[in-house]
Amino acid sequence: MLGCGGFVGSHLLDRCLSHGLGGAVPEVVGWDLDDRKIRHLVHHPNFIFRQGNCADPDARGQLLVDLRDADVVLNLAAICNPAQYNTQPYQVIRANFVDTFDTVQMCAEAGTWLLHFSTSEVYGRTLSSYVDDSYADPALYELEEDSTPLVMGPVANQRWSYACAKQLMERFIYGCHTEFGLRFTIVRPLNFFGPRMDFIPGREGEGVPRVLACFLGALLDRKPMLLVDGGMARRTIVGIGDAVDAVVRMLERPDAAANQVFNVGNRANEVTMRGLAEMMRRIYADVSGDVSYLSHPIEDVSSAEFYGAGYEDCDRRMPNLAKARRLLDWEPRMPLEDVLRETIQYYYEKYGTGRAAATRAA
Ligand code: UGA
Repeated sequence: MLGCGGFVGSHLLDRCLSHGLGGAVPEVVGWDLDDRKIRHLVHHPNFIFRQGNCADPDARGQLLVDLRDADVVLNLAAICNPAQYNTQPYQVIRANFVDTFDTVQMCAEAGTWLLHFSTSEVYGRTLSSYVDDSYADPALYELEEDSTPLVMGPVANQRWSYACAKQLMERFIYGCHTEFGLRFTIVRPLNFFGPRMDFIPGREGEGVPRVLACFLGALLDRKPMLLVDGGMARRTIVGIGDAVDAVVRMLERPDAAANQVFNVGNRANEVTMRGLAEMMRRIYADVSGDVSYLSHPIEDVSSAEFYGAGYEDCDRRMPNLAKARRLLDWEPRMPLEDVLRETIQYYYEKYGTGRAAATRAA
């Protein structure tokens, strides 16, 4: 598992090591620079943790041994934070394409199944956004793995550096399948939410994380929640537990998952960013017992101010999930309200109460 110490990797490890796969606890070799999200697992008897950068040339020998020995390689290593796409496009393209190139090639050479985490961003903008039909025609905005066009903006709008690198990586994997018989599965995540996502600014890291951590940080710090360009962008949000369940089904059904691309999301949990901010402050008020949060400020900010020049947005991401249902018998279950409540509760217990006590003491 490359990138085992991130948000998704840490939850996948939890599930595999505590519940097993197909009735047995697998042996997992995990690579990551950072162990903060998996410290509770590093001494598990079925887990070997290699702390380091798997893309480092010095690590290549060990990585090759690990990839050859494995039944499946899960590649989660990525830079996937929109605040970096237009400000650090070199790093973004390097991490998401160049650094992954060798891994894919090694899997092809070793004959090892590669389960690669791509992104829903490869779809880019919807066709609806070009015809201004207010989403009248689902065929113009619904995202289907094997038929929907992948639509990006111009090169100078560097938001697309990430989507483009990820798209090229998908095409490279597919090419290795065609030419060298690489067995692959590609996952396109659609906004996985849950505990341990990203970093809370000022507590777990610095900078601008994705929207969940931005809004949580604002609530914890009693600062306004900022809505980029009016908060009209829509996302479908899937709980991390449901998402991990989809991946576990892929691992348990290798024949069904082989050589397929899967959307993993939750159609029922669609929300605008304004709607998300309003829901989060209501749930935060409930979890904290502090009704003043019901009117917590929500302010508008332009994308140029928030992200800098060259940012553009994906307007809507409505996944078609028929393939996951058909081949994996998977259906997401957790409603948005429950996903947010579980996540807010986690962060409130971690940071909220301590902060409140510190404020009272002060
Ligand atoms: C990101 C990544 O680019 C994808 O690779 C990944 O698949 C996806 O997250 C995901 O979590 O699955 P995006 O949804 O655009 O894509 O990331 P966010 O930073 O969470 O932004 C969501 C929306 O909220 C955007 O419209 C953004 O402008 C807005 N936003 C963000 C705010 O309104 N306020 C904020 O404080 C932060």
